Amino acid sequence: MRLRFIAAALFSVFFQSSFSQTNASTEKRIQQLIKKMTLKEKVGMLHGNSKFYTEEVKHLGIPEWALSDGPHGVRAEMNRHNWQYAGLTDDASTCFPPGTAMAASWNLELAKQRGIVLGEEARYRKKDVLLGPGINIIRSPLCGRNFEYLSEDPFLISQLSINYIKALQTQDVAACVKHFVANNQEQNRFVVDVTMSERALREIYLPGFKASVVDAGVLGVMGAYNKFRGSYCTENEYLGRTLLRDEFEFKGVYMSDWDAVHSTEKAALAGLDLEMGTEKENYNDWYFADPLIKAVKEGRVKESIVDEKVANILRVMIKTKVLDPKTRIKGSINTKEHQQAAYRSAVEAVVLLKNEKQILPLNMSALKSVAIIGDNATRTHCGGGFSSEIKALYEITPLQAMTDKYGKSMQINFAQGYDKQSHVVERSSDGQLNTDKVDWKLIEEAVAQAKKSDVAIVFAGLNHDFDSESFDRLHMRLPYGQETLIQEVAKANPKTIVVIIAGSPLELAGIESRVPAVVWGWYGGMEAGNAVVDVLSGKEFPSGKLPFTMPVTLSQSPAHALGAYPGHDLKVNYEEDILVGYRWFDTKGIEPQYPFGYGLSYTSFEISNVNADKKIYTVNDEIIVKFTIKNAGKTDGAEVVQLYAGQTKASVLRPKKELKAFDKIFLKPGEQKTVDLKVKVKDLAFYDEKSTDWKVEPGEFVLYTATSAKDIVSTLPITVQ
Ligand code: BGC
Repeated sequence: MRLRFIAAALFSVFFQSSFSQTNASTEKRIQQLIKKMTLKEKVGMLHGNSKFYTEEVKHLGIPEWALSDGPHGVRAEMNRHNWQYAGLTDDASTCFPPGTAMAASWNLELAKQRGIVLGEEARYRKKDVLLGPGINIIRSPLCGRNFEYLSEDPFLISQLSINYIKALQTQDVAACVKHFVANNQEQNRFVVDVTMSERALREIYLPGFKASVVDAGVLGVMGAYNKFRGSYCTENEYLGRTLLRDEFEFKGVYMSDWDAVHSTEKAALAGLDLEMGTEKENYNDWYFADPLIKAVKEGRVKESIVDEKVANILRVMIKTKVLDPKTRIKGSINTKEHQQAAYRSAVEAVVLLKNEKQILPLNMSALKSVAIIGDNATRTHCGGGFSSEIKALYEITPLQAMTDKYGKSMQINFAQGYDKQSHVVERSSDGQLNTDKVDWKLIEEAVAQAKKSDVAIVFAGLNHDFDSESFDRLHMRLPYGQETLIQEVAKANPKTIVVIIAGSPLELAGIESRVPAVVWGWYGGMEAGNAVVDVLSGKEFPSGKLPFTMPVTLSQSPAHALGAYPGHDLKVNYEEDILVGYRWFDTKGIEPQYPFGYGLSYTSFEISNVNADKKIYTVNDEIIVKFTIKNAGKTDGAEVVQLYAGQTKASVLRPKKELKAFDKIFLKPGEQKTVDLKVKVKDLAFYDEKSTDWKVEPGEFVLYTATSAKDIVSTLPITVQ
């Protein structure tokens, strides 16, 4: 509650002085500082002097600039000059559930809360820039970083990012939205050349970045590793100048991903400000170090270009009070409030996928024994995934939570279920994926435990050997023979509940029909076990919704159906164009395992009286859809109502429908609320490649009020004049 209050107070201040605004006194101060700097001092600010810092200019009171990963917690301190951890004893922090879980909550208040907590902890750890959020589109189910990203839908991504970034930046810390742009696969990420239509760029891949800059006033943007239309993102004029600076009027720092710079002149001219992570031992050899000084001296890069970059960095430093340390927020770390925020975030992420005969919630007081099965019952995840790994102050596993909460009142029968073999050991001599091996001994043990228990809960899914930066998965199936494990356990005990811990889509057809309940628990951060066990017991209710489509098989998924992943000859063209995620499934009439936006509740909701405020709109209007929602069941619950819009007939191919608004509504049993969802007619536009502008074509549109991309409660035709 306290957090909510602080957030609200800070927000009102924030709106009065948006970060995107610059003012005359700041600009004057920047110019005065630059005038007093030598070229060497300026250039010192434009590249790392270690893994995560840039050089100070002591005589001007400009300190080293401290950058840190990452999106869902403040990363532990690294050594200055290598990728080993420094081994400090005071750098543990709060670990939130990663991006997909944040998105699954569909709760903008929680995104704000996360921003505040991360900002407070970053400040406490004396960090100036927090490298997140990571908002690349979930294009392929296989992408190793899906768990860190948010969604397949640009609107959901934008709403969450705006709230997260604004809140974070109220704490005198800069956010750095990443990875700009089209870092949608990890395979070949350092070199792959991505091409896509301008329309796909504008409608799908850019909106999150644009919203972060224009609506949230993000102070940092990180250029991706990959190439975009032939040139590396960090030296791509179209990205760095045309879009970021000219169109979005970005006034902050455009920095490289770590070791993503490939040139001096080209990158400098294309608008990159800061080079980080280059793998050259001598920092003076980096592209934006001595070679940049040389380029200025030889007249290949004007000194004014260097000044522009220094100004961008100083501007962010001033906004976040780096240059005015006395007035700067001091922050706090590992407080009870922070842990409570991580817990709420984990609880609200949980998605109930199946609940036959209301087997859930479990009546824990009536149970004498429970079998807890699976490596994910005991595995911690916060410390995995590479750059987003967090040294969590603690991490509660599901088994630990079960034991703490119910160990005295019931018999808990644990079985490992499947063995963890690293993804890195890919194939054995018979060509089989090691990770696909079935371990019958472990299955027999699990079956024995399931047989003697009232209920069996299998904690299955992936871990950060799979969901990880720097490689993609090889397939979408459950690894380690888990499908067989679950089938055998379900035969032994029909009351088998499967809890999936993962951040990317998985093939579920082989288990879904065999068990009465499936829950998607994500990587739940430090409070993972408590959150998921409290949802299973009914202490908390499930209210998450899938932020991506769960295909039946990989081949259903657009990029894979079209053979447009991972590309050929280090080039990938996004053949599916704008039909990403549910846009593809809907438009092509393909039935997924579970649709985008899907998730059940322990209670039931009735949505009625859905009405639009008018039948005919003009381009400058705002459409208001009003409805009544009632909790018709016996327990508390929350429903995420989604408003989609589609154009009936258009001059170009349009997705059947696209998400335009949503709200998460909390209701007590019997309670009823009237809710408005709003969408500007302008936001019904498509990007018209002919006129290179957004276009609303007059005609009929349909507004779908829904509880998932497939569960449509009402369709309202409207006309746009
Ligand atoms: C990742 C970034 C991260 C950076 C610094 C890179 O490998 O792509 O997301 O912020 O490392 O750790």
